[in-house]
Amino acid sequence: MNFVFSRPETQYLDHAKSLLFLDHCVAEGDPNHDALLVLNESGLGIHEPKRWDQPAFIVDFTTMDIRTGAGNVSRKQPLARAVGRQSDRVLDLTSGFGSDTSLLAGMGYQVECRERHPIIYALLQDALGRAARHPLYSTAISDNVRLQFGDARDVGSSFLRAFDAVYVDPMYPPKKSKAAPPRRAQLLQTIAGEDLDQNDLFLWVREHAKRMVVKRPKHASPALEEAPHHQVESKMVRWDVWLNQPEST
Ligand SMILES: C[S@@+](CC[C@H](N)C(=O)[O-])C[C@H]1O[C@@H](n2cnc3c(N)ncnc32)[C@H](O)[C@@H]1O
Repeated sequence: MNFVFSRPETQYLDHAKSLLFLDHCVAEGDPNHDALLVLNESGLGIHEPKRWDQPAFIVDFTTMDIRTGAGNVSRKQPLARAVGRQSDRVLDLTSGFGSDTSLLAGMGYQVECRERHPIIYALLQDALGRAARHPLYSTAISDNVRLQFGDARDVGSSFLRAFDAVYVDPMYPPKKSKAAPPRRAQLLQTIAGEDLDQNDLFLWVREHAKRMVVKRPKHASPALEEAPHHQVESKMVRWDVWLNQPEST
């Protein structure tokens, strides 16, 4: 997929450079681009193919419901049960647009993240930067998250062992359903495509992590032949949990 970056006003140029995506864009004016990136006071946004007339998509955490203990960010939620309610440090190896990352951060976990697609990384890093400048969301979200650009496998196996849980949510093949998926899911699919190397990632994390948590569509088969030690379900998804240490909740 080809991305073009629409040259921003001068005051945004240093920020654009810091997001590390410029080398992954074709030159402005190149007719062969599929998607357009824009950077302005709202943040880094993307206009995806065939939707040029719609507002740019931006990742934004500053509208999340972060009331302590309530709703989304309560450790009674299935996501918290999957990573372990007593856990402290979580490694999210496939951050995408950070929905799960931000929920985990809002629940008070320290979340270390990796994302290997440069445009997805840039959209997420920009959102974390905006959250960091927000009086409420800096402490609730961005102070608990550290994101690095790169492939999950580059972290090294001993690094995995330093975390209470390692979270893996690679792209799942698109469903043959009549209902269109939400815009953010469609965009992730369009930009990242299928993560064809995910089986190797599962096996490697399973071998080294104290606790591997894999997010799957509710009726999908588990990621490994070995049965998970726990399964936690919500309305739409299931988290499969494999342990390499005595059981914890
Ligand atoms: C389904 S999305 C993750 C969605 C995310 N959990 C969320 O809540 O927004 C999968 C993401 O993982 C990234 N990814 C897949 N394999 C990866 C790897 N080996 N290293 C780093 N990122 C990876 C993809 O680029 C994609 O952005």
